[in-house]
Amino acid sequence: MFNDKKVVFSGVQPSGNLTIGNYLGAIRNFSAFSEEYHCYYCVVDMHAITVRQVPAELRRRTYETLALYIACGLDPQKNTLFVQSHVPQHAELGWVLDCYTMFGELSRMTQFKDKSAKNADNINAGLFTYPALMASDILLYQTELVPVGQDQKQHLELARDIANRFNQIYGETFVVPEGYIAKGGAKIMSLQEPTKKMSKSDANENAVVRILDSKDDIMRKFKRAVTDSGNEIICGEGKEGITNLLNIYTCFTNKTVEEAQREFAGMGYGAFKLAVGEVCADSLRPVRDEFARLMADKAYLEQVMAQGAEDAYKNARRTMSKVRRKLGFTELKR
Ligand code: TYM
Repeated sequence: MFNDKKVVFSGVQPSGNLTIGNYLGAIRNFSAFSEEYHCYYCVVDMHAITVRQVPAELRRRTYETLALYIACGLDPQKNTLFVQSHVPQHAELGWVLDCYTMFGELSRMTQFKDKSAKNADNINAGLFTYPALMASDILLYQTELVPVGQDQKQHLELARDIANRFNQIYGETFVVPEGYIAKGGAKIMSLQEPTKKMSKSDANENAVVRILDSKDDIMRKFKRAVTDSGNEIICGEGKEGITNLLNIYTCFTNKTVEEAQREFAGMGYGAFKLAVGEVCADSLRPVRDEFARLMADKAYLEQVMAQGAEDAYKNARRTMSKVRRKLGFTELKR
């Protein structure tokens, strides 16, 4: 159904309830590629276990993330939607790429530094080699384009370096991928500490707006959003809170920052925050409704998972046998 198209790949960890950062920076941009590209959108459960997960919650969130993909407009007939651990080549290529990724490179990853500071009692080897597994996700499908938020840029550059290194040693094996970082939503900040990225694992619920939050919760969180002691609704230094809210507003309304600044000129912060909350809650309502409908139909989600895994497996297997040949692994004659 997809042959001869260029490939888009992206993934989301089922490691927490997804935020408007995940939505604006990544998921909502995914469907734009569906016609022109063969798109693989993966629920990366193997990445999620680099941090301790409660098994029942991981399982539930895996279904939820898949349902959210569909609720955000990804048609399973036009996109390969699948779960990472259902396609064993991710782990297989992950190991191979571990052997072509340098200790020094992995040590420089800012996400590793952040996460190991947050999980000081569990700085496991998987957390460290996480970017090599991410490179395997991408390279396995000969991906051209990877839509992600700003925080994944460093991992993506490493994936390119690994691909180039492997190609140099063994001859052309992998397509070298390009990142696609959306302009507006690439870095949505915390509502409580607007110099910090909004993160699904933030312990402070008021800092994070979840895609599935009720309208009441969304309005409350925006009302409490940290701003500054001034009164002008403009972007700028020292105004990180207002800048973030303006950014969120323009993402949901498709207006420019200048238009938004004009619209809110002279208005108080309180009324502005309510306006941002309104557009956010109203834009997410159809996603929430569709999500609830999908979660009530587990059989359908399982069918999507199975179909996605089968399609991904076929293509992953092709790259993996090429890699095995290049490496000098023997073929088993059965
Ligand atoms: P994850 O699960 O942390 O986030 C999923 C996507 O959401 C983006 N994102 C944000 N964008 C804007 N503002 C924010 N505050 C924000 N927070 C998160 C992320 O950039 C990401 O695009 N390592 C990846 C998952 C992954 C992957 C891959 C991605 C594994 N393999 C291969 C692309 C290709 C991650 O942890 O994303």
